[in-house]
Amino acid sequence: MREMFPLVAKDALVRRNGRVLVGPIDLQLEGKGTTIVIGPNGAGKTTLLKMLHGIMRMNGGSLDWGCAREEAQRRQAFVFQSPVMMRRSVVDNIAYPLQLAGTARKDARAQAADWAARISLGDALDRPATRLSGGERQKLALARALIRKPDVLFLDEPCASLDGRATREIEDILKQAAAEGTRLIMSTHNMGQAQRLADEVLFVLHGRIHEFSPAAAFFAGPQTSQAQAFLNGDIVE
Ligand SMILES: Nc1ncnc2c1ncn2[C@@H]1O[C@H](COP(=O)(O)OP(=O)(O)OP(=O)(O)O)[C@@H](O)[C@H]1O
Ligand SMILES: [Mg+2]
Repeated sequence: MREMFPLVAKDALVRRNGRVLVGPIDLQLEGKGTTIVIGPNGAGKTTLLKMLHGIMRMNGGSLDWGCAREEAQRRQAFVFQSPVMMRRSVVDNIAYPLQLAGTARKDARAQAADWAARISLGDALDRPATRLSGGERQKLALARALIRKPDVLFLDEPCASLDGRATREIEDILKQAAAEGTRLIMSTHNMGQAQRLADEVLFVLHGRIHEFSPAAAFFAGPQTSQAQAFLNGDIVE
């Protein structure tokens, strides 16, 4: 884990159709803790996460892990806001990444069944995953991402359409993963959740990192008026 970090972005920039979506950004992430990314709609949170994960092409600057890029890619996973379900059963969806990595089908399905139970889908093992509700899909996507025990997990609003109970389930799983050493980098619009999970907060505005602080300091009183306004629920220009 230690050798994967720091993750260093220098002048990193993502531009599409002549418009800068994110950057230029200078950022250094260390190997410990949970980073929560917050900011208004359209600020660039999703773009930033995808850029850091390496699935959004950069138009300038550099992004370097502490290890080789291929190794870093192998050791990280991403949970999308609207996860795609394969036309297979719940258990086979969760088992798929393990099977891809060479685990025998029986073993992979047994581990997947354990994960299904953890996300309260233990009774739905053989249901087609395409028929799950939005919230159930998000939980499945989390299990599918964690089953290979990634060292780094990016999550883009993983609880966006979940009710309170499912949100707690997800948070408990995330806390346990973090306690076991998984490095979490996650966006959310839920400030209660941000406070419960964050060790550090990245506040994004207009595609730039406006503030990057330890969570306790940030929630006690952000440095910038824009972050304060955002926490107050005001419109941030
Ligand atoms: N592939 C793309 N091509 C062009 N513009 C894009 C693309 N992806 C995102 N954008 C634009 O980039 C800006 C930032 O989008 P992004 O999805 O990163 O914001 P966000 O902070 O995640 O917002 P939200 O809170 O609504 O999820 C938006 O104006 C969006 O329309
Ligand atoms: Mg987004």
